[in-house]
Amino acid sequence: MSSKNILVTGGLGFIGSHTVVELINAGYFPIIIDNLSNSDLKVLDGIEKITGKKPVFYNLDILQTDDLEKILNVNNISSVIHFAAYKAVGESVEKPLDYYYNNVSGIISLLKAMQNSNVKNIIFSSSCTVYGQAADLPVTERTPLIKAESPYGNTKKICEEILYDFSKTGNVKVVSLRYFNPAGAHKSSLIGELPLGIPNNLIPYITQTAAGLRNILTIFGNNYNTPDGTCIRDYIHVVDLALAHVKSVEFINKFTDNYEVFNIGTGKGTSVLEIVNTFENINFVKLNYSIGERRKGDIEQIWADCKKANSLLGWEAKLDISDIVKDAWNWQKQLD
Ligand code: WQD
Repeated sequence: MSSKNILVTGGLGFIGSHTVVELINAGYFPIIIDNLSNSDLKVLDGIEKITGKKPVFYNLDILQTDDLEKILNVNNISSVIHFAAYKAVGESVEKPLDYYYNNVSGIISLLKAMQNSNVKNIIFSSSCTVYGQAADLPVTERTPLIKAESPYGNTKKICEEILYDFSKTGNVKVVSLRYFNPAGAHKSSLIGELPLGIPNNLIPYITQTAAGLRNILTIFGNNYNTPDGTCIRDYIHVVDLALAHVKSVEFINKFTDNYEVFNIGTGKGTSVLEIVNTFENINFVKLNYSIGERRKGDIEQIWADCKKANSLLGWEAKLDISDIVKDAWNWQKQLD
């Protein structure tokens, strides 16, 4: 019987913290490492308030391989969930070397530490950005990957390749989860998204505009070849995404092959304008927005075929856009 101790790198981040909560709820013992470069120690208090348990936390950078190895051994870790990475698409274009160094060297450091401490299971935070603009929609896991639009997306593709090659040595079993657009917050409003500076992503930009922190939301283009002219994405509630990681831990413990990849989305596409209208209608808030130029690097539309995760993981998204905009707004309103 494998231990219930799960190492969560980047466990104080947006997706990491929600996953830690659901791991605790499912009876696991998450151990968090985070270097606090894109998170805050008060997230740990939020996790404790929700679950009644305060997970073990190490303030550590994943590039510190020796310390990582010690933590894996001391804590009798059975699986690792790897979130710790830089993830801002626009920033990655300005600082490619930081992204390749942190995201790619980071996973190599982690895998070395796992090999030296004989920890076999890793669940990797990948991204739908590896698909770029797919010719056929919805995308399945067999949809060909094309050259990523950004260094960030390319680091996800490179990490998947490293994991695939390393899994063929028999040293690790890998589950790679290709997230679509994570959004929303825990219904308690005790944890949620804490974007640093000006948000890149749509939902936090909407909530900050509604809260008066931003003057106006700019919709990046309404002349795309979509029903209302705005881009379409597959927005998945962060709690549904967190639950997919719990299911992945259960899956990887029984998994007898080396490498499996899953799309983690809702299977539904929603346009930017639909998000804006749903936000206004659900929250009874008028949003100040205008139509601007297209954003460089944006793809026109993507949404997921999640049948593989539905059947092999026994997981499917249960929450919808209304839950996302409600929970995101409730979280924003309680932020000081
Ligand atoms: C969504 C839509 C914008 C801001 C993200 C992550 C990426 C990956 C997938 C995990 C686009 C439009 C946005 C704004 C706007 N996730 N928009 N005005 O680009 O799909 O990628 O999810 O790995 O890491 O970055 O998400 O929220 O930035 O944009 O009109 O102020 O909203 O043009 O069409 P994106 P996003």
